[in-house]
Amino acid sequence: MDSIRIVGGHRLNGTIPISGAKNAALPLMIASLLTNETLTLENVPDLADVGLLKRILANHGVDYMVSGKRPGDLPNSGQTLGLTAAEIVDTTAPYDLVSRMRASFWVIGPLLARMGEARVSLPGGCAIGTRPVDFFLMGLRDLGAEIELDRGYVVARAPGGLKGGRVRFPNVSVGATHTVMMAATLASGETVIENAAREPEVADLAACLGKMGARIEGAGTSTIRIEGVPRLHGAVHPVLPDRIETGTYAMAVAATGGDVILQGAHPELLQSALDVLATAGASVADVEGGIRIVRNGAGVEPVTVTTAPFPGFPTDLQAQLMALATRADGTSSITETIFENRFMHVQELARLGADIRLNGQTATVTGVKSLKGAHVMATDLRASVSLVIAGLTAEGETTVNRVYHLDRGFERLEEKLSACGAEIERVRG
Ligand code: EPZ
Repeated sequence: MDSIRIVGGHRLNGTIPISGAKNAALPLMIASLLTNETLTLENVPDLADVGLLKRILANHGVDYMVSGKRPGDLPNSGQTLGLTAAEIVDTTAPYDLVSRMRASFWVIGPLLARMGEARVSLPGGCAIGTRPVDFFLMGLRDLGAEIELDRGYVVARAPGGLKGGRVRFPNVSVGATHTVMMAATLASGETVIENAAREPEVADLAACLGKMGARIEGAGTSTIRIEGVPRLHGAVHPVLPDRIETGTYAMAVAATGGDVILQGAHPELLQSALDVLATAGASVADVEGGIRIVRNGAGVEPVTVTTAPFPGFPTDLQAQLMALATRADGTSSITETIFENRFMHVQELARLGADIRLNGQTATVTGVKSLKGAHVMATDLRASVSLVIAGLTAEGETTVNRVYHLDRGFERLEEKLSACGAEIERVRG
């Protein structure tokens, strides 16, 4: 298995291009199941999760085509992916594929809407909590689906087609919002989703569905209205920039010190995280075409942060913030409210010398003078990258094992960081 070797202590200076968002690309790819015409997605990141979803979609009958570079494309621009579900050949999403990535469960919405049936394995994904699917089932039942559980599979049927309905989620769920919104586009009549997720990726999916002929209002707010249409058609849509990748590199610069332009980043996608970085002592500025992060001279200030659904501080940046907090002059408090088991990075950061105490869902992080390089390993994507950030600031050599977690969500991580002066390389295992 590959690992990442880092020699810490280098400041980051330069430009980091921000890729298309993994968490937008995945639902957009799944939306291709809703039409027999081609959905062309631009700026798709080249990630392990995207590759796995291509395989899952291919199993349902989706053909995909990756276009070559066009004149004027930047060397860093993402791939253009054409997805055509001319015919759905299989409405089953099997365990061996779905268990490897939770988002693949979301195919249940489009399959049910287009084919009137779906049989989808209960999902897997990062080990960050129990992550049930009750909201999905509730929402699809509200659209008239009959649902039963059969030996680890969710079997959903809507023989006469889905019917618009009122869905009120008990808590905010990004995946359930994506799924029910996609299903409702082809239902008869109007659907209203209340307490919908407001994450930018939901609005991005709605924008794409709109180009495909769907009638959606309110995506990006907590009430989404969808007027079902008989069919959707092909469209061309660019994936929005990755706010979590942006925040991750911003935290890395705040931790190591330096001056970096995050090219292509949109500040409004992560304002709460940028505000926290400013409190921590980094200077954050909107510049043409991106965001500039600078920390020169000043120390890192402690912060008090609680994760929350958008527009709050994202759970997907909690681990990275904790790596930064280990370098603060004082004690930070970080509370996780979205997932109950998202602190696996704590014991690994401790291997590097971090001083972190856990009390329920709150971590108290007392900054230390220096971290010291060590062998570390993490069991989820964002936890892994927090160890990379810690390694960049640590004295000596850090090896981050199980790099496949990083490959799920960070495109060309070593290349992007080493271009800014980090000493980081992949060691093939
Ligand atoms: C999405 O996961 C993201 N994944 C996650 O990013 C992100 O952490 C999460 O949203 C929260 O922002 C993708 O977009 C592919 P949820 P999702 O449903 O949709 C509970 C990463 O690192 N819940 O919003 O699976 C659930 O257990 C990943 O890129 C139910 O109880 O998250 C959690 O506590 C990790 N029942 C909370 O809701 C349900 O039926 C929010 O989960 C569904 C969810």
